[in-house]
Amino acid sequence: MPSKQVFEATDGAVYTTSNGAPVAHPYAAERVGPFGPLLLQDFHHIDLLAHFGRERIPERVVHAKGAGAHGYFETTHDLSDITSCKLFTSVGQKVRSTVRFSTVGGENGSADTARDPRGFAIKLRTEEGNLDWVFNNTPVFFIRDPAKFPHFIHTQKRDPQTHLKDPDMFWDYLSQNPESAHQVMILFSDRGTPDGYHNMHGYSGHTFKLVKDDGSFVYTQIHLIADGGFKTFDNATATRLAGENPEYGIQSLFETIEAGKFPSWTVYVQTMTPAQAEKFRYNVLDLTKIWSHKEFPLRPVGKFVLNENPQNYFAEVEQAAFSPSHLIPYFEATADPVLQSRLFSYPDTHRHRLGVNYNQLPVNTPLNPVANFQRDGPMAFNNQGARPNYQSSITPLTFLNNKGSSHGTPRDYERQANHENWLSGAFWDLSEITERMELKLDFEQPRALYQQVMDDTAKAHLVSNLAGHVGAIKSAEVKARTLSYFASVDQSLSDRLAQAIGAPTAKPFAVKSASEALRFKHNIGAAL
Ligand code: HEM
Repeated sequence: MPSKQVFEATDGAVYTTSNGAPVAHPYAAERVGPFGPLLLQDFHHIDLLAHFGRERIPERVVHAKGAGAHGYFETTHDLSDITSCKLFTSVGQKVRSTVRFSTVGGENGSADTARDPRGFAIKLRTEEGNLDWVFNNTPVFFIRDPAKFPHFIHTQKRDPQTHLKDPDMFWDYLSQNPESAHQVMILFSDRGTPDGYHNMHGYSGHTFKLVKDDGSFVYTQIHLIADGGFKTFDNATATRLAGENPEYGIQSLFETIEAGKFPSWTVYVQTMTPAQAEKFRYNVLDLTKIWSHKEFPLRPVGKFVLNENPQNYFAEVEQAAFSPSHLIPYFEATADPVLQSRLFSYPDTHRHRLGVNYNQLPVNTPLNPVANFQRDGPMAFNNQGARPNYQSSITPLTFLNNKGSSHGTPRDYERQANHENWLSGAFWDLSEITERMELKLDFEQPRALYQQVMDDTAKAHLVSNLAGHVGAIKSAEVKARTLSYFASVDQSLSDRLAQAIGAPTAKPFAVKSASEALRFKHNIGAAL
């Protein structure tokens, strides 16, 4: 995405309804005689009005007004000494990107030259998924406590009674939250009124982590420095343009790219080791602070270029869903609480704004195949065909050689053994409250039920009920494993079941060695 399929005005297409049936004329409406009422059978007319009435989707609650374009990120420098992230270790690699610039506080339709920070959101389509950089044009932010965000934003929205923007609200809040001062100073400098969207820098603001295979990491902030410099307007010009051309930012971006003057940025990482962070004057997770460039110099890593205008604004920009939680391997979030809140907030609002399958919209779809167990829901464009919709165990038997399963379940990502260490042991495949090796525990109660509670009739019913189901299993492997499962409850139960379905008898699951025990922990089937 975006596909280069362009709907030319001259492509000769015949006018149709939304189900593709030709209609004589766009103004056609079926009615009873020349002056009679309209007909309910006229799908064309009803479809026209019904679709029109549903053209709007919710605008973004912040950053509603924006402009977008496509381009690429090219890796120019190798960072393999500090990260194993493929994006930063393959010099010459170019990844297709989409950007959306925005103002923050105003509604969709507000003036592009308003005094406001600017959003600078980039979707980088790598071979290992989309990395979204949801940045601003300022290196710091107003808050470091995420719970303040809705309050702070409300002060820039409309007063509940007057429906007017109210400077009192704005300054009442800011004056009582001094951590905002750094950003407020930038906002009220001429940087608060940039000359268009493409003449400004972009900053992660937040601290992220660049991780290596060995588990080591550096803290990092990303900077995109506009090759043409950060151009600004003075207040008078910005105010005049807000009246004369409220779409100044959209227009100048579009026309600059159309004229072949492709805006470009040099991308830098600024890094800090955990040891340096310990001694840093400020909390490394406080996004109201910058890191001195002298102490922590910028290191170039790539070039970011915009060279293509969207063909369709709504499809390629409005429907774009950027999230700081759309990360790729070795580019990780830190514990910055504002960032942590954002990891939740963006996909949450996408589900509201665009629907649960927002990542299936063409502009959001990763280049590499998405292979998981999410299915259905509104507008499931890529419902993953006949691929199974469940995972049978943590490491299915068929995955032990990691070639994927014969019936099409996705194979595991070959992640590093010490992955868990990077995350300080906070992540494991399952939160196991009982060791799975403790077979005794898991089968004790079902065994008691069978042996001590069920009488002969109940046992016979159980076997025949099971036989109807288990007998229908097609896979010999699954059938044998199922019989072992019942043998672990009670050997005679399993034997009766095997006899009823005409299958060979099976032994209970057994853990024979330490290594097998470990495998068993991950795959009950591996112990067969
Ligand atoms: C947009 C929440 C802080 C940059 C948004 C949206 C929400 C949101 C709900 C609308 C997204 C959409 O509808 O697609 C928050 C919260 C924050 C926070 C809860 C803090 C707790 C920040 C910070 C930055 C930032 C610190 C930059 C460093 C952006 C950008 C967009 C955006 C660039 C527009 C994305 C686009 O163009 O689609 N934010 N935000 N936000 N936010 Fe934040």
